Amino acid sequence: MPKKTLLLNALLPALFCLAFVGCHHGPPPMPLDQLNPQQAHGHQIFQTYCAQCHDDRDDDSLHAPALLGVFKKPYLHSGAPATDEHVTSIIEQGYGMMPPVRNIDPQDIPDLLAYLHTL
Ligand code: HEC
Repeated sequence: MPKKTLLLNALLPALFCLAFVGCHHGPPPMPLDQLNPQQAHGHQIFQTYCAQCHDDRDDDSLHAPALLGVFKKPYLHSGAPATDEHVTSIIEQGYGMMPPVRNIDPQDIPDLLAYLHTL
């Protein structure tokens, strides 16, 4: 096979992807109308307790890192693994510039985490 064809086959999809999709993003978040009841409840919790500082569905940073794709990456910014346990401790104890989130019902945290997993 001529080298040129091979190159084109490999390069064109990559270029297409860069030009039209912006490949530094992972897959898009699950559409809101596809959330199950637990995830939908988590979305409400997010709006109440997190949205004033964090973006969830895009990454136009407000005051804090966007949580888009937070569980799709292996590590958080801190270098800690992106696990339910670490995110729960960030919520309850705060982290760096982030104050602990007061008033959140611990029973709501699993729903909130379920929502964050859809991002
Ligand atoms: C008052 C603003 C504020 C609120 C409210 C807030 N955060 Fe944060 N959060 C921050 C800031 C600022 C950082 C970055 C801290 C740093 O790097 O020093 C952060 C960092 C994080 C991180 C680590 C991100 C990473 O990749 O390392 C997670 C996860 C997180 N917040 C989750 C939440 C969740 C979930 C809620 C709602 C329950 C929430 N935050 C509410 C300001 C906030």
